[in-house]
Amino acid sequence: MATISMARIVPIIISKFIILTLLSPFAIVHATKENQGFLRTLDRKLHGFKKEKLTHFRAYWHDTYSGSNPTAMPVVRPPSNASATLFGSISMIDDPLTEGPGVGSKLIGRAQGLYGSASQAESALFMAMNFVFLEGKYNGSTISILGRNQVFSEVREMPVIGGSGLFRFARGYAHVKTVSFNTKTGDAVVEYNVYVLHY
Ligand SMILES: *[C@@H]1O[C@H](CO)[C@@H](O)[C@H](O)[C@H]1NC(C)=O
Ligand SMILES: *[C@@H]1O[C@H](CO)[C@@H](O)[C@H](O)[C@H]1NC(C)=O
Repeated sequence: MATISMARIVPIIISKFIILTLLSPFAIVHATKENQGFLRTLDRKLHGFKKEKLTHFRAYWHDTYSGSNPTAMPVVRPPSNASATLFGSISMIDDPLTEGPGVGSKLIGRAQGLYGSASQAESALFMAMNFVFLEGKYNGSTISILGRNQVFSEVREMPVIGGSGLFRFARGYAHVKTVSFNTKTGDAVVEYNVYVLHY
């Protein structure tokens, strides 16, 4: 007897479950389409955000303090000479991003922003910069990188927190490796491998 009643009940439960599952997306869509005057939900496809892509690019970041045309400026000197990590110092940058590691390599963009020594115990920078691209269809588009950079580690990782133009809604990360560093001048060339999800 028990098996007969179960045989009757199970299909009813299943069909109720199917109806609820089919209906619930419509319920959600209906609820989010609500217009509250100052805000509204948009159809992302109609706004050109169709399929998310994963893009990788590699660029070499040239940070130059020396010479007559520096691209990095110390805007806040270390507040204390007692700090081995130069804690509290800040530099503003407008660094060329090139295709290859050489100084004369093709310019593909610029890294504009700032970084500062944010650790009293080790050489770790707080970095906040925009990469503005100057090439082809990406000309004028930007990505924003904000993260922690332990400069003497082999590979560092920093988050990509956003973007503009072709990189709208960007998110991802940069893997960063030092190519050369001059301890006297502070000049550095760093390889950036960036992985970005965007539309
Ligand atoms: C740190 O040393 C430099 C060079 O010796 C000096 O010019 C500067 O005033 C010192 N800064 C502080 C905060 O003592
Ligand atoms: C990039 O855009 C700027 C400003 O619109 C323009 O002057 C420049 O020629 C463009 N560069 C390339 C390589 O298309």
